[in-house]
Parts: sequence; C-alpha cells; structure tokens
Amino acid sequence: MALIENGDIGNHQSFGVKIRFSKDEDVDSMLSIYMQHIRRGLDHDSASHIDFPQIDDLKRRRKNMQKHRLPHLVAEISKTIVGYAYAVPFRKRPAYRYVLKHSIYVHQDYLHMGVGRQLMPELINLCAAAGYRQIIGYIDSTNHASISLHEAFGFHQAGYLKGIGYKYGNWTDSIIMQRSLGMGDKSSPSN
Ligand SMILES: CC(C)(COP(=O)(O)OP(=O)(O)OC[C@H]1O[C@@H](n2cnc3c(N)ncnc32)[C@H](O)[C@@H]1OP(=O)(O)O)[C@@H](O)C(=O)NCCC(=O)NCCS
Repeated sequence: MALIENGDIGNHQSFGVKIRFSKDEDVDSMLSIYMQHIRRGLDHDSASHIDFPQIDDLKRRRKNMQKHRLPHLVAEISKTIVGYAYAVPFRKRPAYRYVLKHSIYVHQDYLHMGVGRQLMPELINLCAAAGYRQIIGYIDSTNHASISLHEAFGFHQAGYLKGIGYKYGNWTDSIIMQRSLGMGDKSSPSN
C-alpha cells in the first residue's frame, strides 16, 4: 500500500479551514472536541460507568496509526483545532486488510460551517491512495448531520443495528454507512 507522509496535505483554505496531518501537540484539542460530543450524548449515570480516553492513550494511538500509514487529520482555523478525522482497520483478521472504519468530529462552536465537508474528502482520498478499498462508519440513527454528511460524500446505508446503544434511558439504533474507495471490489488489490 502507498505510504502516507507526515506534514501538510495541501491548500484547503476555503472558509479559512486548513486540513493537515495531526501532531502530538494536537491531542489535547482533539480530546476536548471528543469529550464535548460524548458528554452531550450521555446522561450522568452512563458517564459515570465510562473510562474516558486519556491524553497518553490518544498519543499512543496516533503513533500506532502513523506506523500503519493510516490518515489522522486535523482541521485548523487560525491555528485553532476545530475538528479531526481518522481511519483505523475495520478488523484485525487479514481478510479485512483493505477495509477501514473511520471517525470524524467537529468542535461544537464550529458546527455546520463546512469543516466536516473539508475533512471528509481528504480522509477518503488518503485512504484510497493508501490502497484501501472500503470505508465504514457507524452512526447513531438520530444523527442527521452525520448521516447527511456521509451521504454527501458517497456513503450508503449498508446495515441497521437495532437497540445497540443506551442513552438517556432509551435504547438507540445505529446505521452502518459504507463507501468504496478507488476500484472498490471491481478489481483485485495490487499488493
Ligand atoms: C457530523 C459532523 C462531523 C458534521 O460536521 P460539520 O462541520 O458540522 O458539517 P459541514 O458544515 O461540513 O456540513 C456538511 C454537510 O453535513 C450535513 N450537516 C451538517 N450539519 C448538519 C445539521 N445540523 N443538520 C443536517 N445536516 C447537517 C449537511 O449535509 C451539510 O451539507 P450542507 O452544508 O450543504 O447542508 C459534526 O456534526 C459532528 O462533529 N458531529 C458530532 C460527532 C459525530 O457525530 N461524528 C460522526 C460520527 S461517525
């Protein structure tokens, strides 16, 4: 698979958003964006049962992804980290080595300003360029923003998981959204 180098990706400055590869120093901001969304989605009782990720865990994970040549991107506006996106292997078993699952998060003060729209194509293009063939996201069925964003970038609903989450006293469903990368399953992988 092609290698992904560390550094700037290019000039994606619309609305002042710059997309680049993450650095260790970005991890604090990434964690705080993640916590904003997780806290919003959980009641107090559920939150008390959760071991939230620590900065060192995230730094280790970031390094590990770099080692596996997986994109780990941040979106910056005037030096402020306003979002991030990354992809990890879908499953460890070797048959699934061309498949990734991904996450994308935007700072709550910068929602619906086009940050996700800038991050997503970079993530997709880098994953495709690295030789992966499918990318998969798991999205809460009520998360209309994320579902629309994924649809806008060619993802389709590939599955529906009923009652797998528990938030605010209710069971929640998840949608599996999938998109092919490069030739997808139309050709054999070259490496
Ligand atoms: C999903 C998320 C990443 C979208 O990022 P964003 O920067 O707000 O999205 P953008 O402003 O780039 O919008 C891109 C498209 O997404 C959709 N979208 C974004 N916010 C939306 C909203 N509040 N309602 C409906 N659609 C929305 C629209 O299709 C939009 O296109 P449009 O501007 O032409 O209408 C962001 O809402 C987020 O971080 N949510 C919390 C974390 C999360 O759910 N992550 C995804 C889990 S897989």
